[in-house]
Amino acid sequence: MEQQKLLELLHSLTIEEKIGQLLQLSGDFFTTTDAVTGPAANLGIGEDDVYRCGSVLSTIGAEKTKEMQDMFLAKNKKIPMMFMADIINGYRTVFPIPLAQGATFNPELSKEGASIAAKEAAASGIHVTFSPMADMVRDGRWGRVMESTGEDIYLNSCFAEKMVEGYQGDDIGKKGNIAACLKHFAGYGGAVAGRDYNEVELSERTLREDYLPAYEAAIKAGVKLVMTSFNTLDRIPSSANKKLMRNILRDEMGFEDVLISDYAAINEIIDHQVAENRAQAAKLAIEAGVDIDMMTACYVSELKNLVAEGGISESLIDEAALRVLELKNELGLFENPYKDASVEDEKKLLLCPKHREASRRAAEESFVLLKNEEHILPLKKEEKVAFIGPFCEEKGLLGFWTFFSDRADTITVREGVESYLGEQKDHVSFVNGASLPILGEDWTGKLLDVKEAVEAAKNADKVVLLLGEKEDAMGEGASKLNTRIPAAQKELFDAVTSITEQVILVVFSGRPFVLTLEEPKTKAILEAWMPGTDGGSALANVLYGEISPSGKLSMSFPWDEGQLPYNYNHPRTARPHRDYVPYNRFQSHYVDGPNEPLYPFGFGLSYTTFHYSPITLDKNVLTKNDGDMITASVTVKNTGDVAGKEVVQLYLHDVFASVTHPVRSLKGFEKILLQPGEEKTVQFQIKEDMLRLWNIGMEHVSEPGAFELWIGGDSLTDNRAEFTLV
Ligand code: BGC
Repeated sequence: MEQQKLLELLHSLTIEEKIGQLLQLSGDFFTTTDAVTGPAANLGIGEDDVYRCGSVLSTIGAEKTKEMQDMFLAKNKKIPMMFMADIINGYRTVFPIPLAQGATFNPELSKEGASIAAKEAAASGIHVTFSPMADMVRDGRWGRVMESTGEDIYLNSCFAEKMVEGYQGDDIGKKGNIAACLKHFAGYGGAVAGRDYNEVELSERTLREDYLPAYEAAIKAGVKLVMTSFNTLDRIPSSANKKLMRNILRDEMGFEDVLISDYAAINEIIDHQVAENRAQAAKLAIEAGVDIDMMTACYVSELKNLVAEGGISESLIDEAALRVLELKNELGLFENPYKDASVEDEKKLLLCPKHREASRRAAEESFVLLKNEEHILPLKKEEKVAFIGPFCEEKGLLGFWTFFSDRADTITVREGVESYLGEQKDHVSFVNGASLPILGEDWTGKLLDVKEAVEAAKNADKVVLLLGEKEDAMGEGASKLNTRIPAAQKELFDAVTSITEQVILVVFSGRPFVLTLEEPKTKAILEAWMPGTDGGSALANVLYGEISPSGKLSMSFPWDEGQLPYNYNHPRTARPHRDYVPYNRFQSHYVDGPNEPLYPFGFGLSYTTFHYSPITLDKNVLTKNDGDMITASVTVKNTGDVAGKEVVQLYLHDVFASVTHPVRSLKGFEKILLQPGEEKTVQFQIKEDMLRLWNIGMEHVSEPGAFELWIGGDSLTDNRAEFTLV
């Protein structure tokens, strides 16, 4: 529809109809025979409101969405509904959780994953996904770290951009594309004490320096929607934060499309005790520029009165409704209200071999090898291996936000290993040994067949312990005090490690675990995260050396929860801790443990080894002149005897500036494949805009002076060079 027609449509609408476009309801409002006595009555809205609503969340399936659209259009002929859902790490074909995707250091894989998720979801009638989550995270106690790509500003920005490109393609109206929704604006990942929904306390400088860039990258990539966050920032609930939404998001960052509240977040302005009633909450939210009210009655029950009483101008409603109509128009819904919903396409696309293969590749690249002594890994087909732990036959390898997938489709570790070994599968045995904790029932899990586990371990050349947390112990509302292997599994671990040293620990988790107690008793540790639909096959391929691990940590693995929140790119203190010898009380440190994490950001081993040459710079003075750059090069050689991928990482540090600044920050990376003996030269271009910071006057500028850079395989690399900015 042409813009002029769209404006005419807007002006033809009653105020109730315009406000209707701003309401989002879940599908169950439409399936009850009597909407008003069902969920609608509970929410405090009438049937008319239901049939004026602009969008629906969490209803999926080609048949169902078409039926609902028909039923809706029969009552409301003018404007089709938009269907939205949380398609986070895949729809029916599930990819590794976003934190694991971050560990691939391969944003193109996530672009491919997002595009596959879009194709599948579009065939099932979805128009908008509530993804990507670009929240920066530093505290593994927070359950939602699994939905983020980690603790690094630059890494998150790269992933946010590529995911938006993957979902939206070059035009959301085209077949197989859906609109993306960036969330949660802003700073949700900074929840104090890692407790979900808790307040966020950030200085404006830290907000701008560390938290906003990844959101900005998604906006630059053209993301069509933004979601407000549940938290307060500077003690202001996000959905009521005019400065954040109007000045920063819209004016500064240039976001022009739809801003949606998080689930019930407008009503929660009352729970935050910042609005006394719905009318006040609605006024604060619409003035802040929130277009869609997800699942509350605030807008539909209050906006009309607010206009009538002169509390707000009707132009605020027009502005919001127009943005919603424009989005529907871009999706092509006025011409085809079903968009791509098609039962035939669902049959063709959902879980098709091509999609599963892509998800398996992403999983293989996401595994992080944290330790591998005496080449205990890879396993050999002829070895007798005992696989022990509750993840032997666990179908829940998908992560929390995967409500539309079916666990029956998951390839378990047992299935993956047995199918890999074929006729040699009688070399391996599987024992569960312990159960996973059941939320609300027990916090520890239960010991099961320990004797059998110990027996299996005794009879094996090697033991692979498959331990970790259950899918529902991560994600929204799953903050933890204790981010360790749950107690029953730890007992199992102790029983097995007391009779054999040939132990490989594979960890399934949606967050960095504290593995300090287990580390000395294992020869190898592999972080497998939640690997997705084909996780079992991916794991078999990596454990048996078909593919060498190439993941690098997207979040530091702490030595103890007491270090949290932790991030490698922290500013230095005036009393930086050096080491314990000689002991100096008056340095910034803990008296009962180290400052350093057990495994740092960017770290991950391979079955091969890589040698880095010293850095060469083509010059060591950079000017602020347009287009000026320094080229930094290293040559990386595969010095082992198998092929492997390495993530070459560039870190920068401003030696002196008007405000304190990170000890080092990732500013570039490249993942390269090297055959045994092969070497490649990797080049990074260093430009002035990579050196900018929010200076003492709150300007985003670079400050002349000395800079350091490092290029290596993790955030602790000491392969260093220097240059000067003039
Ligand atoms: C979550 C969002 C999600 C929304 C809709 C909320 O509880 O915070 O991330 O998109 O629900 O399901």
